[in-house]
Amino acid sequence: MRRLRSVCLYGTTLLCVFFLSHLFVRFGGREKNDVSKKYVPTQSRESRESGLPNIVFIMADDLGWGDVGYHDSIIKTPNIDRLASEGVKLENYYGSTWCAPSRLNLMTGRYRIHTGLYGDVCDFMALSETTVAEKLREAGYYTALVGKWHLGGFYNTECNPPQRGFDTFFGYLGGCHGYYTHRRGGPRAKYDLFANDTAVGPDYEGQYSTFIFTKEAQRIVEQHSKRPTEQPLFLYLSYQAVHTPLEVPEEYENIYKNVIEDDDRRIYAAMTTCMDEAIGNVTETLKSTGLWENTVLIFSSDNGATPSGGGSNWPLRGHKGVWYEGGIRLVSFVTSPLLTDQVKGTVNNELIHMTDWFKTMLYLAKGNLKGTKPLDGYNQWETISMGKTTDRKEILHNLIPGDQADTEGSIDGFFDRMPFATLRVGKWKLLTGNIVNEGSWTKPAEMGFHIYGPGNHGSIELYNIEEDPEERNNLAQTNTVKLRELYRTLQRYSATINKDVLQVEPVVE
Ligand SMILES: *[C@@H]1O[C@H](CO)[C@@H](O)[C@H](O)[C@H]1NC(C)=O
Ligand SMILES: *[C@@H]1O[C@H](CO)[C@@H](O)[C@H](O)[C@H]1NC(C)=O
Repeated sequence: MRRLRSVCLYGTTLLCVFFLSHLFVRFGGREKNDVSKKYVPTQSRESRESGLPNIVFIMADDLGWGDVGYHDSIIKTPNIDRLASEGVKLENYYGSTWCAPSRLNLMTGRYRIHTGLYGDVCDFMALSETTVAEKLREAGYYTALVGKWHLGGFYNTECNPPQRGFDTFFGYLGGCHGYYTHRRGGPRAKYDLFANDTAVGPDYEGQYSTFIFTKEAQRIVEQHSKRPTEQPLFLYLSYQAVHTPLEVPEEYENIYKNVIEDDDRRIYAAMTTCMDEAIGNVTETLKSTGLWENTVLIFSSDNGATPSGGGSNWPLRGHKGVWYEGGIRLVSFVTSPLLTDQVKGTVNNELIHMTDWFKTMLYLAKGNLKGTKPLDGYNQWETISMGKTTDRKEILHNLIPGDQADTEGSIDGFFDRMPFATLRVGKWKLLTGNIVNEGSWTKPAEMGFHIYGPGNHGSIELYNIEEDPEERNNLAQTNTVKLRELYRTLQRYSATINKDVLQVEPVVE
């Protein structure tokens, strides 16, 4: 089942079939409702003192570690580079291996094992989950989603963004679309473009998604700036770019005409540059409308890139869909005129995870966490805005209970079957289970597209990520003390898996 990772890449559509009864599953547990810490965000302009900051969260799709200018890429991203260099670059930041699970982490502030969706790609979020959009709306925000949702489309309007906390929605419900057709891949190729709950695909056929999402984001910002009230804005701008298929207007491809020979890499680079221009345009609109002075902009990719689809995670190991760093260590930064000069232009190396945005954004919004399920994320605002040490010491990347009868998995009897799991504790990273043939290092085309590896696969791997971020040196045989320690931590998490929702069977259309 986990081999389905390439389905999106190849343009087919992956849907989840699930038992409706599980939609409403409630699961208990203790509430951890402390947004904690009494730090008040610094306001740089007196006039804005009373207002809550606008929050603009820009998500790129499948953008790799090696695909932004500031990571020494051949790809030109001048706007991203400038915004990042005016803000705080997050360089020890993680998400999930796939589009939908990362969005699930963002929306719920919870690990996949706790939402019940720890298996394969599944664009679904249980209705029992409280979204960050709902909480921000409760805190007084106008909440807008433009672009890709990928958390429950096609099943039930109950699962659509307008019913999950967004005042306005324009975009895709699922994943894997044509950039011009707005249809999902596969033989049935349904339109999947909506304005709130209304299908509008045919109205936009032929228009490139990066343009239409940008225009809608600009429209929302402009409209918002004209509102007489001081209502703050939460804009979640979730681009389709730079997911496959490789499609881009010619003018952008021309930028790389004599620069990148490889067709895939050239088009991918052009798509990225187009998205970069779009981000520049949205920030311009935030500035011209006066919203920018009181805005916190967060940029994040959702998972690593697919090298065979033009992207690059070099020099990191692996790619989208696998738990090596190339699949999960993401490009991200936070920028805002509200940040102090002390942190502007700095690089932050604290451990941060996609689930952390929930508490961090709620903190900025002076919201509360009432009614949320136990969150796995941390409020990272002090870390980002003051460079303080993070409270986060570990990340449970994922854990799927033992599906392999493998005595190797049974270190000291912790597990009787090998779990498929990835865990980070401090600088240490443990991978267990089915890790075969997924872990090559791939140079981008302009460097020869050389594939190294697959390297030293085992069913248990241990890396010191601080010293060995490229995961070249498996220490599982040599540091058994650390290995046992991490196994114990994994066992602790294993006891908290929510097994109630995971009645999902992916179906390839
Ligand atoms: C969605 O509905 C709200 C409320 O009626 C409206 O203000 C907003 O413009 C709609 N969004 C779109 C994209 O049509
Ligand atoms: C950005 O704005 C310029 C000027 O309005 C426009 O020509 C261009 O098409 C826009 N690009 C994108 C990607 O939105």
